[in-house]
Amino acid sequence: MQREQWGSRFGFIMAAAGSAVGLGNIWKFPYLAGSEGGGAFLLLYLVIMVTIGVSVMMAEIAIGRAAKLNPVGAFKVVGGRRWIPVGVLGLVTSIVLLSFYSVVGGWTIAYLLKTFTGAIGSGSAEVLAGQFGDLVGSPLEPIIYHGLFMVLTILIVLLGVTSGIERSVKALMPLLFLLLLVLVIRSVTLPGAWEGVEYFLMPDLSQVNMGMVQAALGQAFFSLSLGMGAMITYGSYLPGDTNIRSSSIWVISLDFLVAFLAGLLVLPAVFAFSMDPGAGPGLTFITLPAVFGAMPLGMVFQAVFFAMLLIAALTSSISLLAIPVAYFSETFGIGRKPASLGVGLVIFAIGVPCSLSLGIWGNVVFFGMSFFDFLSYLVDKFFLPIGGILTALCAGWAAYGKVSRELENQGELPFAYLGLWRVVVRFIAPLAIIWVMIAGFAS
Ligand code: PHE
Repeated sequence: MQREQWGSRFGFIMAAAGSAVGLGNIWKFPYLAGSEGGGAFLLLYLVIMVTIGVSVMMAEIAIGRAAKLNPVGAFKVVGGRRWIPVGVLGLVTSIVLLSFYSVVGGWTIAYLLKTFTGAIGSGSAEVLAGQFGDLVGSPLEPIIYHGLFMVLTILIVLLGVTSGIERSVKALMPLLFLLLLVLVIRSVTLPGAWEGVEYFLMPDLSQVNMGMVQAALGQAFFSLSLGMGAMITYGSYLPGDTNIRSSSIWVISLDFLVAFLAGLLVLPAVFAFSMDPGAGPGLTFITLPAVFGAMPLGMVFQAVFFAMLLIAALTSSISLLAIPVAYFSETFGIGRKPASLGVGLVIFAIGVPCSLSLGIWGNVVFFGMSFFDFLSYLVDKFFLPIGGILTALCAGWAAYGKVSRELENQGELPFAYLGLWRVVVRFIAPLAIIWVMIAGFAS
């Protein structure tokens, strides 16, 4: 069977940027920047993105294109049999990550619908906190929304790489930017917003500390969808003449831009209404609705916001589902449709106890955490960093010949740049991630 390819470079960049731009940018980045010292965090994050981030992204895309296979097959082809476990780790990570990512994706559907019905709106932060707790803790409701989110994800993936994924991201990503711009303009023109803009943009370098560096590196990997084969899978559909370096730079710039704009959307609005920028994960579902509730036409902006969040989550979840779907259809010769349905159903099933663990199953704990927190801890602290280290090492050492050939592609990558890239994937990226892991456990 002919392997599918992206129809255009634009389509690939939108798909890869769609994977990268997700809940990580809009939900997590602003609250990290809010609690980790604003401008200093932003600067550090940018530095990590353009050094380690771009190098590992180029490595993943090149591995995928060299092998033209799912991550398990790709690591075997470029690195040899002993690298297969790295692909398997990516496969497992994609399934586990999507199972709880989709639960949060479901909340965004719930908030969008509840904005239209008026169920969530114009409340104080206390009321909104109660409503959020009620939603995530109730036994049935969030599971229905989680199911709905998985249905949307499955539908796009089963239609195929070009007619499903590429077609949807080409429409959704520009829409996302448009909605985001509307919101940023609203936010920075609020009276009193300037203090938030300053907090976000003025780096106070005396604030930089090890904890901040760790948070920035972990966030960069998660946000760029690295360390688990998503970019390998998307890279495997990339035509041979597309420039990997410039495409990676596009994806990273777009991902950074959305995180930056999300910070400009959230922090000034939060400052304008004298709320707490360090509110943590509740910033999106509690603080922001309180802000919307207090501004003129707030419900319109709230609907725009949750629509944008849903798009961001969906274009990421399809890249997660694409990994096991590629694996099962290529390894066992299953069609794309049954593979999408089958894997999607399994992921939905794993998400059910995740959701329940925030409510009625809250007393079942794993290492002192709810099932939801436990899975997210596993992915954040083990699967992604270990996957990232091994991917960089594979590209820099075992698969260097094949990977560098993809990158050099008709002299696209200047020699000095290739040398720099090699130092980063061979030494700097693995050591930096190991250091982050060790320091993370020590603290
Ligand atoms: N990058 C996505 C986000 O920021 C999450 C993600 C990670 C998606 C890994 C796919 C693969 O939300």
